[in-house]
Amino acid sequence: MLAYNLIAYLQTQVSALPEHRVANIFKPLASPAEWESSLGWFVIAVTTGIFLVVGALMAFTIIRFRQRPGDDTHQEPPQVYGSNQIEVAWTVIPILIVFVLLGVTARVIASVQNASPPKQELKVTIIGHQWWWEVLYPDYGVVTANEIHVPASRDGKMATYLQLQSVDVIHSFWVPQLAGKTDLIPNRTNYMWIDPREPGVYLGNCAEYCGTQHANMLLRVIAQQPADFQKWIAGQQKPAVQDAGVTQQQAMYGSLACVNCHTIRGTKSLGKFGPDLTHLMDRQTIGAGVLMNDAKNLRMWVNDPQDPKPGCFMPSMKLTDKELGQVVEYLQSLK
Ligand code: CUA
Repeated sequence: MLAYNLIAYLQTQVSALPEHRVANIFKPLASPAEWESSLGWFVIAVTTGIFLVVGALMAFTIIRFRQRPGDDTHQEPPQVYGSNQIEVAWTVIPILIVFVLLGVTARVIASVQNASPPKQELKVTIIGHQWWWEVLYPDYGVVTANEIHVPASRDGKMATYLQLQSVDVIHSFWVPQLAGKTDLIPNRTNYMWIDPREPGVYLGNCAEYCGTQHANMLLRVIAQQPADFQKWIAGQQKPAVQDAGVTQQQAMYGSLACVNCHTIRGTKSLGKFGPDLTHLMDRQTIGAGVLMNDAKNLRMWVNDPQDPKPGCFMPSMKLTDKELGQVVEYLQSLK
Protein backbone atom coordinates (compact mmCIF):
# COMPACT_ATOMS: atom_id res chain seq x y z
CA MET A 1 0.00 0.00 0.00
CA LEU A 2 3.03 2.22 0.28
CA ALA A 3 2.86 2.45 -3.47
CA TYR A 4 -0.31 4.54 -3.27
CA ASN A 5 1.41 6.98 -0.97
CA LEU A 6 4.33 7.25 -3.35
CA ILE A 7 2.02 7.68 -6.32
CA ALA A 8 0.28 10.59 -4.60
CA TYR A 9 3.66 12.25 -4.23
CA LEU A 10 4.93 11.49 -7.70
CA GLN A 11 1.80 12.39 -9.65
CA THR A 12 2.25 15.28 -11.98
CA GLN A 13 0.98 18.54 -10.61
CA VAL A 14 -2.77 18.94 -10.71
CA SER A 15 -3.09 22.69 -10.47
CA ALA A 16 -1.47 25.71 -12.00
CA LEU A 17 0.38 26.38 -8.76
CA PRO A 18 3.97 25.19 -8.47
CA GLU A 19 4.45 22.31 -6.06
CA HIS A 20 7.03 22.60 -3.32
CA ARG A 21 7.74 18.95 -2.72
CA VAL A 22 10.87 19.52 -0.70
CA ALA A 23 10.71 17.62 2.60
CA ASN A 24 13.79 19.54 3.65
CA ILE A 25 14.15 22.11 6.41
CA PHE A 26 17.07 23.76 4.60
CA LYS A 27 14.91 25.18 1.80
CA PRO A 28 12.63 27.42 3.89
CA LEU A 29 9.92 29.53 2.25
CA ALA A 30 8.34 31.10 5.35
CA SER A 31 9.66 33.06 8.34
CA PRO A 32 9.48 30.41 11.12
CA ALA A 33 11.10 27.83 8.82
CA GLU A 34 13.79 30.33 7.85
CA TRP A 35 14.70 31.16 11.44
CA GLU A 36 14.75 27.48 12.34
CA SER A 37 16.95 26.53 9.42
CA SER A 38 19.45 29.29 10.31
CA LEU A 39 19.56 27.77 13.79
CA GLY A 40 20.07 24.36 12.19
CA TRP A 41 23.06 25.65 10.20
CA PHE A 42 24.53 27.29 13.30
CA VAL A 43 24.29 24.04 15.31
CA ILE A 44 25.82 22.11 12.40
CA ALA A 45 28.71 24.62 12.23
CA VAL A 46 29.43 24.37 15.98
CA THR A 47 29.22 20.58 16.09
CA THR A 48 31.36 20.30 12.93
CA GLY A 49 33.97 22.45 14.69
CA ILE A 50 33.89 20.11 17.72
CA PHE A 51 34.15 17.09 15.45
CA LEU A 52 37.19 18.52 13.64
CA VAL A 53 39.03 19.48 16.85
CA VAL A 54 38.37 16.13 18.56
CA GLY A 55 39.09 14.18 15.36
CA ALA A 56 42.36 16.06 14.77
CA LEU A 57 43.54 15.50 18.37
CA MET A 58 42.69 11.79 18.10
CA ALA A 59 44.43 11.43 14.74
CA PHE A 60 47.49 13.24 16.10
CA THR A 61 47.60 10.99 19.19
CA ILE A 62 47.10 7.78 17.24
CA ILE A 63 49.85 8.60 14.76
CA ARG A 64 52.31 10.27 17.13
CA PHE A 65 52.07 7.60 19.84
CA ARG A 66 51.53 4.50 17.70
CA GLN A 67 53.48 1.34 18.43
CA ARG A 68 56.75 1.33 16.52
CA PRO A 69 58.97 -1.68 15.69
CA GLY A 70 61.22 -2.39 18.64
CA ASP A 71 58.85 -0.84 21.22
CA ASP A 72 58.60 -2.82 24.43
CA THR A 73 54.94 -3.89 24.27
CA HIS A 74 54.66 -4.45 28.02
CA GLN A 75 55.75 -0.98 29.04
CA GLU A 76 53.00 1.48 29.98
CA PRO A 77 53.39 5.11 28.99
CA PRO A 78 53.95 7.57 31.86
CA GLN A 79 50.69 8.02 33.82
CA VAL A 80 49.66 11.61 34.51
CA TYR A 81 47.15 12.51 37.25
CA GLY A 82 45.54 15.72 38.37
CA SER A 83 46.24 18.39 35.75
CA ASN A 84 43.99 21.21 36.91
CA GLN A 85 44.39 23.22 33.72
CA ILE A 86 43.32 20.33 31.46
CA GLU A 87 40.39 19.33 33.68
CA VAL A 88 39.11 22.87 33.94
CA ALA A 89 39.45 23.30 30.17
CA TRP A 90 37.50 20.16 29.25
CA THR A 91 34.79 20.98 31.76
CA VAL A 92 34.33 24.68 31.12
CA ILE A 93 34.53 24.72 27.31
CA PRO A 94 31.78 22.09 26.76
CA ILE A 95 29.55 23.86 29.32
CA LEU A 96 30.01 27.14 27.47
CA ILE A 97 29.19 25.48 24.14
CA VAL A 98 26.05 23.86 25.60
CA PHE A 99 24.90 27.19 27.03
CA VAL A 100 25.46 28.99 23.74
CA LEU A 101 23.42 26.34 21.86
CA LEU A 102 20.71 26.45 24.54
CA GLY A 103 20.54 30.24 24.48
CA VAL A 104 20.40 30.53 20.71
CA THR A 105 17.72 27.80 20.50
CA ALA A 106 15.62 29.44 23.22
CA ARG A 107 15.88 32.75 21.37
CA VAL A 108 14.63 31.27 18.10
CA ILE A 109 11.75 29.46 19.87
CA ALA A 110 10.80 32.68 21.68
CA SER A 111 10.96 34.79 18.54
CA VAL A 112 8.67 32.35 16.69
CA GLN A 113 6.21 32.12 19.59
CA ASN A 114 6.19 35.81 20.52
CA ALA A 115 6.07 37.22 17.01
CA SER A 116 3.27 39.77 16.99
CA PRO A 117 0.62 39.12 14.35
CA PRO A 118 0.75 41.39 11.31
CA LYS A 119 -2.25 43.63 10.64
CA GLN A 120 -3.74 41.08 8.30
CA GLU A 121 -4.09 37.61 9.67
CA LEU A 122 -6.10 34.56 8.85
CA LYS A 123 -7.23 32.20 11.60
CA VAL A 124 -7.45 28.52 10.81
CA THR A 125 -8.26 25.69 13.22
CA ILE A 126 -6.76 22.31 12.44
CA ILE A 127 -8.15 19.25 14.20
CA GLY A 128 -6.22 16.00 14.02
CA HIS A 129 -8.19 12.80 13.46
CA GLN A 130 -6.99 9.25 12.86
CA TRP A 131 -5.93 9.69 9.97
CA TRP A 132 -6.90 12.98 8.42
CA TRP A 133 -6.92 16.71 9.13
CA GLU A 134 -10.10 18.70 9.69
CA VAL A 135 -9.62 22.32 8.61
CA LEU A 136 -11.92 25.09 9.86
CA TYR A 137 -11.98 28.79 8.99
CA PRO A 138 -13.96 30.12 11.98
CA ASP A 139 -14.24 33.68 10.61
CA TYR A 140 -15.75 32.44 7.35
CA GLY A 141 -17.81 29.42 8.46
CA VAL A 142 -15.85 27.18 6.13
CA VAL A 143 -14.95 23.54 6.85
CA THR A 144 -12.71 21.41 4.68
CA ALA A 145 -10.11 18.68 5.07
CA ASN A 146 -6.46 17.86 4.45
CA GLU A 147 -5.78 20.79 2.11
CA ILE A 148 -5.27 24.13 3.78
CA HIS A 149 -5.72 27.13 1.51
CA VAL A 150 -3.95 30.26 2.75
CA PRO A 151 -2.95 33.55 1.18
CA ALA A 152 0.70 33.86 0.20
CA SER A 153 2.63 36.58 2.00
CA ARG A 154 5.25 38.05 -0.28
CA ASP A 155 5.64 41.28 1.67
CA GLY A 156 5.45 39.80 5.19
CA LYS A 157 2.16 41.63 5.84
CA MET A 158 0.02 38.52 6.04
CA ALA A 159 0.26 35.46 8.22
CA THR A 160 -1.94 32.47 8.92
CA TYR A 161 -2.40 31.55 12.58
CA LEU A 162 -3.13 27.91 13.22
CA GLN A 163 -4.94 26.57 16.29
CA LEU A 164 -4.05 22.92 16.62
CA GLN A 165 -6.33 20.43 18.36
CA SER A 166 -6.95 16.69 18.33
CA VAL A 167 -10.03 14.54 18.87
CA ASP A 168 -8.21 11.29 19.56
CA VAL A 169 -4.45 10.80 19.92
CA ILE A 170 -1.39 13.03 19.55
CA HIS A 171 -0.60 14.07 15.98
CA SER A 172 2.00 16.52 14.76
CA PHE A 173 1.61 19.16 12.08
CA TRP A 174 4.67 19.46 9.87
CA VAL A 175 5.19 21.25 6.59
CA PRO A 176 9.02 21.38 6.48
CA GLN A 177 9.32 24.41 4.23
CA LEU A 178 6.92 26.51 6.30
CA ALA A 179 7.61 25.85 10.00
CA GLY A 180 8.80 23.33 12.55
CA LYS A 181 6.63 20.56 13.93
CA THR A 182 3.90 21.33 16.43
CA ASP A 183 1.89 18.62 18.17
CA LEU A 184 -1.91 18.37 18.15
CA ILE A 185 -2.79 17.16 21.63
CA PRO A 186 -6.23 16.05 22.94
CA ASN A 187 -7.78 18.54 25.41
CA ARG A 188 -5.26 21.22 24.60
CA THR A 189 -4.84 23.90 21.97
CA ASN A 190 -1.42 24.58 20.50
CA TYR A 191 -0.63 27.52 18.26
CA MET A 192 1.68 28.10 15.34
CA TRP A 193 1.83 30.40 12.35
CA ILE A 194 2.99 30.30 8.76
CA ASP A 195 3.57 32.95 6.11
CA PRO A 196 4.38 31.16 2.84
CA ARG A 197 6.31 33.60 0.66
CA GLU A 198 5.47 32.07 -2.70
CA PRO A 199 2.16 30.82 -4.03
CA GLY A 200 2.30 27.08 -4.41
CA VAL A 201 1.42 23.72 -2.96
CA TYR A 202 3.52 22.82 0.07
CA LEU A 203 3.50 19.17 1.07
CA GLY A 204 3.54 18.07 4.68
CA ASN A 205 2.64 15.15 6.87
CA CYS A 206 1.81 14.01 10.36
CA ALA A 207 5.07 13.78 12.27
CA GLU A 208 4.00 11.90 15.40
CA TYR A 209 3.17 8.20 15.26
CA CYS A 210 -0.60 8.06 15.70
CA GLY A 211 -1.60 4.54 14.66
CA THR A 212 -1.74 2.25 11.64
CA GLN A 213 -2.19 4.90 8.98
CA HIS A 214 0.13 7.54 10.45
CA ALA A 215 2.25 7.44 7.29
CA ASN A 216 -0.84 8.18 5.19
CA MET A 217 -1.86 11.28 7.12
CA LEU A 218 -0.57 13.67 4.50
CA LEU A 219 -1.44 17.33 4.14
CA ARG A 220 -1.11 20.14 1.66
CA VAL A 221 -0.85 23.84 2.28
CA ILE A 222 -2.05 25.64 -0.83
CA ALA A 223 -0.78 29.22 -0.80
CA GLN A 224 -2.58 31.47 -3.26
CA GLN A 225 -2.45 35.11 -4.27
CA PRO A 226 -4.70 36.97 -1.77
CA ALA A 227 -7.32 37.69 -4.45
CA ASP A 228 -7.43 34.02 -5.48
CA PHE A 229 -7.70 33.00 -1.84
CA GLN A 230 -10.70 35.34 -1.37
CA LYS A 231 -12.35 33.75 -4.41
CA TRP A 232 -11.68 30.29 -3.03
CA ILE A 233 -13.10 31.09 0.40
CA ALA A 234 -16.22 32.68 -1.16
CA GLY A 235 -16.76 29.45 -3.14
CA GLN A 236 -16.33 27.36 -0.01
CA GLN A 237 -18.89 29.42 1.91
CA LYS A 238 -21.64 28.38 -0.47
CA PRO A 239 -23.68 25.28 0.34
CA ALA A 240 -23.26 22.23 -1.86
CA VAL A 241 -24.16 22.55 -5.54
CA GLN A 242 -27.62 21.13 -6.22
CA ASP A 243 -27.15 19.69 -9.68
CA ALA A 244 -30.53 18.74 -11.21
CA GLY A 245 -28.68 16.23 -13.39
CA VAL A 246 -27.80 14.03 -10.42
CA THR A 247 -31.04 13.96 -8.40
CA GLN A 248 -31.26 10.16 -8.49
CA GLN A 249 -27.60 9.82 -7.64
CA GLN A 250 -28.05 12.17 -4.69
CA ALA A 251 -31.02 10.11 -3.47
CA MET A 252 -28.87 6.97 -3.66
CA TYR A 253 -26.12 8.65 -1.61
CA GLY A 254 -28.74 9.92 0.86
CA SER A 255 -30.10 6.40 1.39
CA LEU A 256 -26.73 5.04 2.48
CA ALA A 257 -24.96 5.18 5.85
CA CYS A 258 -22.46 7.66 4.36
CA VAL A 259 -24.69 10.47 5.71
CA ASN A 260 -23.95 9.43 9.30
CA CYS A 261 -20.28 10.33 8.96
CA HIS A 262 -20.04 13.05 6.31
CA THR A 263 -21.44 16.55 6.11
CA ILE A 264 -22.55 17.97 2.78
CA ARG A 265 -23.82 21.44 3.70
CA GLY A 266 -27.25 22.21 2.31
CA THR A 267 -28.30 18.54 2.32
CA LYS A 268 -29.46 16.05 4.97
CA SER A 269 -25.99 14.56 5.11
CA LEU A 270 -24.85 15.94 8.46
CA GLY A 271 -22.45 13.38 9.97
CA LYS A 272 -19.41 14.73 11.77
CA PHE A 273 -17.09 11.74 12.05
CA GLY A 274 -15.46 11.95 8.63
CA PRO A 275 -14.33 14.80 6.38
CA ASP A 276 -16.80 17.44 5.17
CA LEU A 277 -17.58 16.69 1.51
CA THR A 278 -19.46 19.89 0.58
CA HIS A 279 -16.86 20.90 -2.01
CA LEU A 280 -15.07 17.59 -2.41
CA MET A 281 -14.14 18.17 -6.05
CA ASP A 282 -12.20 21.27 -5.10
CA ARG A 283 -9.62 19.01 -3.46
CA GLN A 284 -6.57 17.65 -5.21
CA THR A 285 -6.43 14.45 -3.19
CA ILE A 286 -8.65 12.00 -1.32
CA GLY A 287 -8.00 9.87 1.76
CA ALA A 288 -5.68 12.54 3.28
CA GLY A 289 -3.30 12.59 0.35
CA VAL A 290 -3.35 8.86 -0.35
CA LEU A 291 -4.86 9.15 -3.84
CA MET A 292 -5.16 11.93 -6.38
CA ASN A 293 -8.78 13.01 -6.68
CA ASP A 294 -9.93 11.69 -10.06
CA ALA A 295 -12.90 9.60 -11.14
CA LYS A 296 -11.02 6.29 -11.14
CA ASN A 297 -9.49 6.81 -7.71
CA LEU A 298 -12.71 8.15 -6.22
CA ARG A 299 -14.49 4.99 -7.36
CA MET A 300 -11.73 2.80 -5.94
CA TRP A 301 -11.84 4.70 -2.66
CA VAL A 302 -15.62 4.53 -2.19
CA ASN A 303 -15.66 0.87 -3.24
CA ASP A 304 -13.18 -0.12 -0.54
CA PRO A 305 -11.15 2.45 1.39
CA GLN A 306 -9.41 -0.46 3.15
CA ASP A 307 -7.57 -1.24 -0.06
CA PRO A 308 -5.59 1.98 -0.44
CA LYS A 309 -5.69 2.78 3.30
CA PRO A 310 -5.91 -0.42 5.39
CA GLY A 311 -7.15 0.14 8.95
CA CYS A 312 -8.80 3.49 8.23
CA PHE A 313 -12.21 4.05 9.83
CA MET A 314 -14.18 4.27 6.59
CA PRO A 315 -15.66 0.86 5.81
CA SER A 316 -16.45 -0.62 2.44
CA MET A 317 -20.19 -0.13 1.99
CA LYS A 318 -20.35 -3.25 -0.23
CA LEU A 319 -22.17 -1.33 -2.94
CA THR A 320 -23.29 -2.90 -6.18
CA ASP A 321 -21.71 -1.58 -9.37
CA LYS A 322 -24.78 0.53 -10.08
CA GLU A 323 -24.90 2.01 -6.56
CA LEU A 324 -21.18 2.70 -6.64
CA GLY A 325 -21.50 4.46 -9.99
CA GLN A 326 -24.33 6.66 -8.68
CA VAL A 327 -22.53 7.59 -5.48
CA VAL A 328 -19.39 8.54 -7.38
CA GLU A 329 -21.39 10.58 -9.90
CA TYR A 330 -23.05 12.46 -7.07
CA LEU A 331 -19.73 13.09 -5.31
CA GLN A 332 -18.29 14.40 -8.56
CA SER A 333 -21.05 17.00 -8.73
CA LEU A 334 -19.78 18.52 -5.45
CA LYS A 335 -17.69 21.21 -7.07
CU1 CUA B 1 -1.44 11.63 12.85
CU2 CUA B 1 0.69 10.53 12.84
